[in-house]
Amino acid sequence: MQRNKIPSPKFKYFNSEKLAKDYIKLLYDKEPEKLIYIKATKLCGGKGALKSKSLDESIRNIGKMKVFGEAGKIFLVEEGLEGEEFSYYAISDGSNYRIFKSAQDNKTISNFDKGDQTGRMGAISPAIITNHLSKEIENQLIAKAINGMKKEHIPYIGILYLGGVVVNDKPINIEYNARWGDPECQVVLPTIKTDYVEIVTSCLKGKLNEIEIEQDNKSRVCVVGASRGYPNDYSHAKRKQIHGLENAMKINGVTIFGADITIQDEKFYTDGGRLFSVVAEGENIVEAKQKAYSAIAGINVEGNNLQYRTDIGWRDIERFLRNKKHL
Ligand code: GLY
Repeated sequence: MQRNKIPSPKFKYFNSEKLAKDYIKLLYDKEPEKLIYIKATKLCGGKGALKSKSLDESIRNIGKMKVFGEAGKIFLVEEGLEGEEFSYYAISDGSNYRIFKSAQDNKTISNFDKGDQTGRMGAISPAIITNHLSKEIENQLIAKAINGMKKEHIPYIGILYLGGVVVNDKPINIEYNARWGDPECQVVLPTIKTDYVEIVTSCLKGKLNEIEIEQDNKSRVCVVGASRGYPNDYSHAKRKQIHGLENAMKINGVTIFGADITIQDEKFYTDGGRLFSVVAEGENIVEAKQKAYSAIAGINVEGNNLQYRTDIGWRDIERFLRNKKHL
């Protein structure tokens, strides 16, 4: 990112707790309430980025990298940026790329982005905050990454997932992933009208420049249903029957994607933390949100063991209602 001048926060890699602690002491000497992320470098089910706002908290979070085993052996100390996060996706054949619709996920267990980190509790697409920034995101954060990898003889072929943040109306890169995001995938893939196999085939043949990807203009809201207690202890909610999925699936414009569910004798049972995603589409975010929540209201887990956030899309709902005429 630094070599390719991609706007991104300052970071350093460490594999030694001692060296990392010495480094953050210097940072906090300069700015005692600095926002810092300590991040594992491999996948940790969405829980590998720990936020700190003091020296003590940062030191504790460095200690926690051990919990992630191999994924936390090498970790990052990254300068935190205060802003609104977004997700963007492109498919690249190494030289050419195509961009998909923007999205935004909700990372924590409680409403208004409070509480513990989770594997994500919901998402929306598009993310209105990126509407006027789409060219800048493409040029500064996507094209530079794809062209940079080509120039360095490691051409990138596949889905590029950009996790970004808007700070003072500027999009900044926080991370790239070589995959789709969950649950953004659930709201972005349904927008694609072009045959997905055709898109992937063109990508593999190095011919993405020969295909245009058609996407619809609908808004989508995804609400994740989870076992009560998740992301902490939810053992009491294991193997409980899930009621109402069949009826929710029949609602026009609603799709249910299963996750930690098992099926036995044609009945659905819980089998983990995040159980399913309810995705609803609408002409705008308000319509999509109403539909998603009326669908999930009809679902429950035996023993009242279902939980979900009731505010998915809250930022864009406010934005939409404020600026209705312009969106
Ligand atoms: N939506 C976050 C992730 O997939 O990592």
